[in-house]
Amino acid sequence: MRHSSSSTGNQARLARSDSASISQCFNLTRWILGGAIFVYAASIIIWQHKTLNIRFAAISLEDTFPHFVRETSSRRPKLNSSIAKERRDVNESLYDVMQHYRTPAQILQSPQLPDWVKQYTEWHAKQRKRYIDAIKNNSTPPEDIHFLIARCLSRDKCGGASDRLQDMPYNLMLANQTNRVLLIKWDKPARLEHYLVPPDGGINWTISDDMFQAGDNWHLRGKETGNDRIVSTIRRDSAAPIFRKYEVDDLGYKIYHEIFRLLFRPSDDLAIRITETMNDLGLVPSMYSSIHLRMKYPIGGINERTFSFERFKDRIIGWAKNAVNCAAELHPNSTAFYVTADNNDTVGYLLRDSPFAKHYSDAIANNREPLIKLVARDYSSEVEHVAFSNTKEADGFMNVFEDMMILGFGKCVAHGLGGYGRLGAALSGGVCATAHRGKYSKACADVLAKTSAFDTGTFKKMTKVQNNLKASND
Ligand SMILES: *[C@@H]1O[C@H](CO)[C@@H](O)[C@H](O)[C@H]1NC(C)=O
Ligand SMILES: *[C@@H]1O[C@H](CO)[C@@H](O)[C@H](O)[C@H]1NC(C)=O
Ligand SMILES: *[C@@H]1O[C@H](CO)[C@@H](O)[C@H](O)[C@H]1NC(C)=O
Ligand SMILES: *[C@@H]1O[C@H](CO)[C@@H](O)[C@H](O)[C@H]1NC(C)=O
Ligand SMILES: *[C@@H]1O[C@H](CO)[C@@H](O)[C@H](O)[C@H]1NC(C)=O
Ligand SMILES: *[C@@H]1O[C@H](CO)[C@@H](O)[C@H](O)[C@H]1NC(C)=O
Ligand SMILES: *[C@@H]1O[C@H](CO)[C@@H](O)[C@H](O)[C@H]1NC(C)=O
Repeated sequence: MRHSSSSTGNQARLARSDSASISQCFNLTRWILGGAIFVYAASIIIWQHKTLNIRFAAISLEDTFPHFVRETSSRRPKLNSSIAKERRDVNESLYDVMQHYRTPAQILQSPQLPDWVKQYTEWHAKQRKRYIDAIKNNSTPPEDIHFLIARCLSRDKCGGASDRLQDMPYNLMLANQTNRVLLIKWDKPARLEHYLVPPDGGINWTISDDMFQAGDNWHLRGKETGNDRIVSTIRRDSAAPIFRKYEVDDLGYKIYHEIFRLLFRPSDDLAIRITETMNDLGLVPSMYSSIHLRMKYPIGGINERTFSFERFKDRIIGWAKNAVNCAAELHPNSTAFYVTADNNDTVGYLLRDSPFAKHYSDAIANNREPLIKLVARDYSSEVEHVAFSNTKEADGFMNVFEDMMILGFGKCVAHGLGGYGRLGAALSGGVCATAHRGKYSKACADVLAKTSAFDTGTFKKMTKVQNNLKASND
């Protein structure tokens, strides 16, 4: 409003002096430009929401004419994260990605979610409130409120991120069966809240400073059925397999991802990173798949600390190629494959030097549809391992959680050895997953061998359809 009244006044004075009129004119131009940018930003936001909806409606179209849909989506302006930040619309795009994150309200309504999870979630909130109210009131909390704390204190041996997180659905089950309020406490490499926080309406597992006294005994391991107020557990390797068996034998479907999302959502810092990465790479939840590579897994002479890409190059290349082929087999029409590895040189190999990289740049150069598109976030430095790294900076591990969540947002996951990739696969829903390495893996067919069939008739036909559609749109 201020702008418009002053600029009307400006116009009246415009004739008076040349130098004044130049500066007024400049102000006016600035105002118009400002307005135009605002309108532009607003229309981009609206357009993005529209394109996103269209894209979901377009799944069947994509099956028939993948070129058309990809062409349309590539015409959508890419959200460049640094520009987005300046325009302050990260929130807007954050919303785009995060709206695919199921909320507790949605999860708790799912008919597939077992009753004990629903009952426990409600019970947990009630007990937690009773306990905290009593403490706030300076009275002794009721005797019947007991806790199970999943912990990783500074002296505990709790392994990496997945070693600690994969137990949680089982811990929840144990807490239900032993009438305990489940809480989580990490002291290393940082508080878990730095990366993951409880979602509104989910299970609030945080421990506020006033909840316990410094001298309280957190009775460790195996005393859950007893009468101790507090018992605690460190990573338990048997927990995840027990829960998987429960899913297979008792339920007949997967709910790991749902329970995880009742407990965790990304912290705001992590959510912004995920959104920026996914926007930069053009990843739309459920439309892409992921390839996880755990190259330093300590097996066959490989050692986490002395590992180098050069030293094991031949084996690594073999594993990496098979991983890509298995992922392509799993999700043949994926828009892209998000590559993540515990070794950045391996990511560099796949994205820059591998036959897949060459195929992709050749295809683009010759205006052909590539058979496979690999994408990755910045791989100029190594990802830190939560258990083995000497890094003390909490942010140094943000990538670990970022990759895990992005695996979880995709449709399928081809994973390697170890719990991390398996956890990522479980978070993506657990139904479209394969092991590309290890006991349950297989040698997958070379995705690039399909090139010849695709280059000829199909491509010409699709291009024609696409051009016709384009012409009718113009
Ligand atoms: C985003 O914009 C900045 C500033 O204009 C530029 O330096 C950067 O390369 C862009 N990033 C991408 C991914 O386009
Ligand atoms: C997102 O919105 C919230 C609330 O409006 C605000 O506090 C926060 O700073 C915003 N984040 C960004 C990255 O703009
Ligand atoms: C645990 O689950 C059972 C079965 O649904 C339920 O009856 C019971 O109330 C639950 N207990 C707690 C503490 O949530
Ligand atoms: C606090 O204590 C008083 C007196 O014992 C009780 O009446 C009140 O309900 C308590 N408030 C809460 C929030 O527990
Ligand atoms: C969890 O509980 C703490 C208080 O102990 C509260 O500050 C926080 O807002 C709660 N978080 C959620 C998501 O309810
Ligand atoms: C990809 O192809 C499969 C099988 O042909 C189909 O079920 C699926 O809907 C297609 N689209 C996406 C985005 O996966
Ligand atoms: C991997 O990270 C190291 C530093 O941690 C760096 O020197 C190297 O260039 C990176 N590799 C690639 C392919 O970027």
